[in-house]
Amino acid sequence: MTINSVPALDLLRQYRELLPQVARAMSRVVESGAFILGPDVAAFEKEVAEWMGARFAIGVSNGTDALFIALRALGVGQNDQVLSSPFTFFATVSATVNSGAVPVFADIDPKTFNLDPNQVEQVLKKDTHKRIKAIIPVHLYGQACDMEAFQALSKKYGVFLVEDACQSIGAKIGDKKTGNWSQFGCFSLYPTKNLGAVGDAGIITTNDQELAERVLAIRNHGSKTRYVHEVIGSNFRMDTVQAAALRVFLPHLDHWIRERQKTASFYDEQLGEQEQIVVPAKASFSTHTYHQYTVRVLNGKREAFKNHLSAKKIGHMVYYPIPCHLQKALSALGYKKGDFPAAEQACEEVLSLPIFPSMTKEEQEYVVDAIKVFA
Ligand SMILES: Cc1ncc(COP(=O)(O)O)c(C=O)c1O
Repeated sequence: MTINSVPALDLLRQYRELLPQVARAMSRVVESGAFILGPDVAAFEKEVAEWMGARFAIGVSNGTDALFIALRALGVGQNDQVLSSPFTFFATVSATVNSGAVPVFADIDPKTFNLDPNQVEQVLKKDTHKRIKAIIPVHLYGQACDMEAFQALSKKYGVFLVEDACQSIGAKIGDKKTGNWSQFGCFSLYPTKNLGAVGDAGIITTNDQELAERVLAIRNHGSKTRYVHEVIGSNFRMDTVQAAALRVFLPHLDHWIRERQKTASFYDEQLGEQEQIVVPAKASFSTHTYHQYTVRVLNGKREAFKNHLSAKKIGHMVYYPIPCHLQKALSALGYKKGDFPAAEQACEEVLSLPIFPSMTKEEQEYVVDAIKVFA
């Protein structure tokens, strides 16, 4: 059967075989009545911590809250600054603002799209940035940042590190997975992520017991004992039915990541020589889990490329069209166009192609052939 369209992703195809198991797991929760922080949450936390190689993994409501809780647990608040990438999903920054701190940016490495440690150091040196208390490296699209460089900066300048690992579950530097390179790793389990819940969910990892205890308290109204509130927290709990579903999905994650990597290798091989398109660079020190396969479209041709893909019914997305520093919500900070040229250029050129586990070879070839015609 010849095909004439390819979706950007197809969650149902990925999960279809597992749906009866998911339904059974969810009805087990419903029948038990243990809806809030039930045994499935504790079991999922244990299983995912083991999978990640982390001492502690704590289930929370979503990735945005994971970032907010991490900052709170480190005592970040008013009068502090938090440095991150201008080229990320806005939640990285809104978590900072909601913690009371002021967001500060440094430019990205144009090859990997990740925060550039050299640019970060330039910012850390400035007198106006002496209040930076934490850096949030974002492992964008599933590729790890240069965490050894960030660890060196953390030591040299006395700042905390919080990894925004919302897109990078399973990505490794050496043998160590993202989320283990700093005080906290923050993960989103939004349904479209490489490991997605059937609604909202998130995880925080840490290898420090005291920090884990702070997170446990903050996610549940600042309370470890019922009606005793030691700190100000809120309701950031992971839903038990989500944990039950995630326990079904987790054993498949390695396989799903490998499937994404195989598709990416095929795209690399087929599209590496095209003139208008630049395939994503792979950093020498890390693996890439291809939450997104994101190319650059050169010479101002992105709009034309998008139209071409739409005509061929090929799903595609631009993550992200506007850098954080130029978002209206942050206009009071006074940033302007030209402040972070690499991030701004990425916003104008990037485009993510279809990639998802169980994508067929025929679909991959259809995408590649369409792109070759354009390029
Ligand atoms: C880089 C990044 N940070 C933070 C988030 C926020 O995660 P969530 O949607 O689970 O709140 C996301 C997810 O969309 C993300 O991609």
